[in-house]
Amino acid sequence: MILLVNGPNLNLLGEREPQIYGGTPLSDIEKMVEEACAAYGQPLKAIQSNYEGALLDFLQENRQQAKGVIINPGALSHTSYALHDCLKALPCPTVEVHLSNVHAREEWRRHDLVAPATRGQVVGLGPTGYYFAAVWLCSQLVEQAAEPLEAADGGARAGLQGELEPLVGGDYEG
Ligand code: DQA
Repeated sequence: MILLVNGPNLNLLGEREPQIYGGTPLSDIEKMVEEACAAYGQPLKAIQSNYEGALLDFLQENRQQAKGVIINPGALSHTSYALHDCLKALPCPTVEVHLSNVHAREEWRRHDLVAPATRGQVVGLGPTGYYFAAVWLCSQLVEQAAEPLEAADGGARAGLQGELEPLVGGDYEG
């Protein structure tokens, strides 16, 4: 199961500052991500909340079943140590998504407290960013499922995977 988490004000997508966030409603994004995950046999569980605690409760409650998390924390990205700590406590990887390019906007949006607790980010690509996050997480699961086969083929695939693996500075070991 993949979790899709959207934070404050993202329920207003489609009508909220469309020149920045586009015209796609959140329901369409959730459907797109659900279909992307379904193509890999992964069910999706989605939440949007304007309440930080509700997001933390959702992540904690689903932490054992979740194989990956896609999260757009909204402005909580710039304020929430609690969300950072919660993501660090999860046994599965997280991909953070921002519809807009937060680095090309106000200075305060460049500070992301959540990013260090994630495996990676997709920023500034609109709703497609959620799709990329879903495909990356699901394809990681396919890779993991194929690992026993890698031993049987002499490690050729493992070598390729090593080259594709992005460089990470954190302590994530997935
Ligand atoms: C956002 C960027 C945040 O800075 C902002 O507070 C949002 C949306 C994005 O998707 O671009 O609510 O997360």
